[in-house]
Amino acid sequence: MAVDKLWYLQQMGIEPYVPRAVARTTQQTPSQASDLPATHRQGTVVPEPDAVVAQQPASDDDNAASQWQVLQQQVVGCRKCVLHESRTQTVFGIGDHQAQWMFIGEAPGMDEDRKGEPFVGRAGQLLNKMLKAIGFNRNEVYIANIIKCRPPDNRNPRLEEIVQCVDYLYRQIRLVQPQIIILLGGVAATSLLKQQTPVSRLRGLVHHIEASEAPIIVTYHPAYLLRSPDQKAAAWEDLKFACKTIGRDL
Ligand code: URA
Repeated sequence: MAVDKLWYLQQMGIEPYVPRAVARTTQQTPSQASDLPATHRQGTVVPEPDAVVAQQPASDDDNAASQWQVLQQQVVGCRKCVLHESRTQTVFGIGDHQAQWMFIGEAPGMDEDRKGEPFVGRAGQLLNKMLKAIGFNRNEVYIANIIKCRPPDNRNPRLEEIVQCVDYLYRQIRLVQPQIIILLGGVAATSLLKQQTPVSRLRGLVHHIEASEAPIIVTYHPAYLLRSPDQKAAAWEDLKFACKTIGRDL
């Protein structure tokens, strides 16, 4: 079981069986780290076992390309939760595989489910404007969601759906290796930071997760900004804070 899943399962009131080697990763010292399976060592970017397709020597670019391909195929064929029954298609992620900035939203909506691409509806148009404001076209960043299938009737993703899906996102993060990650809204923040704290209290801080060395900034979801335009100034402050965090001039 991936260490990352434990928190979600605990939130669901489930105390899963944890193999001893995995349990030790939460308190490993550098000397202990080498005892662990490669996939559990901290500070290393290790390809997922099922993403390693070629045994012959290959360039880093070839390896990354094949890992993206395998991951995308796994998402397309995913039936790990009930959302596969109602989706039109999966919504994988879009943008530059080597982007410095990665933006993570919640879940596909109706427009995204139809098009197979994240943030293409009204919230997406606002996100595009936010990107422009910090000097990016959409194809210069990487955009993904916590879950890859649309929850019916635009309900929030359920914890068990997030548990099943979030490993795909961790693998995307490990492949992109962004310089900074922006979490859009409460579902993204709660799911990745594993704390039930409102966005308003997570803003203005630099967060970290095990899956990446990138600083993580939390801001409001564009859909929320459409409903509460008076918060757009705060979101702009967050983007400026993100730029400052990585020393980017605006
Ligand atoms: N909202 C999200 O969180 N993600 C999308 O892809 C679209 C809307």
